[in-house]
Amino acid sequence: MKINVIYGTDNGNTRRVAEQIAERCAGRVVDICAATPQDFSDCDLLILGAPTSGYGDLQVDWECRLGVFSEVGLSGKKVALFGLGDQMSYCDTFVDAMGLLYDAVVAQGAVVLGATATSGYDFYSSAAVREERFVGLALDEDNQQDQTVPRIAGWVAELVQAAALPVEELVARAS
Ligand SMILES: Cc1cc2nc3c(=O)[nH]c(=O)nc-3n(C[C@H](O)[C@H](O)[C@H](O)COP(=O)(O)O)c2cc1C
Repeated sequence: MKINVIYGTDNGNTRRVAEQIAERCAGRVVDICAATPQDFSDCDLLILGAPTSGYGDLQVDWECRLGVFSEVGLSGKKVALFGLGDQMSYCDTFVDAMGLLYDAVVAQGAVVLGATATSGYDFYSSAAVREERFVGLALDEDNQQDQTVPRIAGWVAELVQAAALPVEELVARAS
């Protein structure tokens, strides 16, 4: 399975996490600043990651490149998301950027895998929570750094299994 892990970062945390995720699934890591349309289209699973910046904002390099989704079209594409945030300092906008990425890829027809439980986190509100689950993997390098490795390990293992299923089955499971 060909997996591309595309990330944006302000201070390096999301790049390091992207590298750890890619290492576990033999994925290819690409900085959104250098990503080509082919990096989005030429793979079986796209894993996209962003930190939340400002107050609930998408990281700026992603913000500038969101148009790539409509350019390549994501209809039926398997996509998984991860987001970095700080649940103590930004408890009202925790990992909001992951929710913004989710809306952008779903609008282009992507099939999103890898939702996770919100238990084990302490926050008030997040745009990345839908139907009481995070739309992807939420990581907090500021307050829960010790949990990053086990969270990645569990998530990637389940993700790779799910991504092997046909899109039709994934859609049926989600509905
Ligand atoms: C100015 C600033 C604003 C931030 N805003 C948010 C926010 O609204 N929500 C959140 O969950 N985290 C927020 N964070 C925390 C970052 O998302 C977090 O530190 C992340 O690990 C940074 O990743 P990076 O090193 O890849 O840029 C903010 C951090 C900074 C410095």
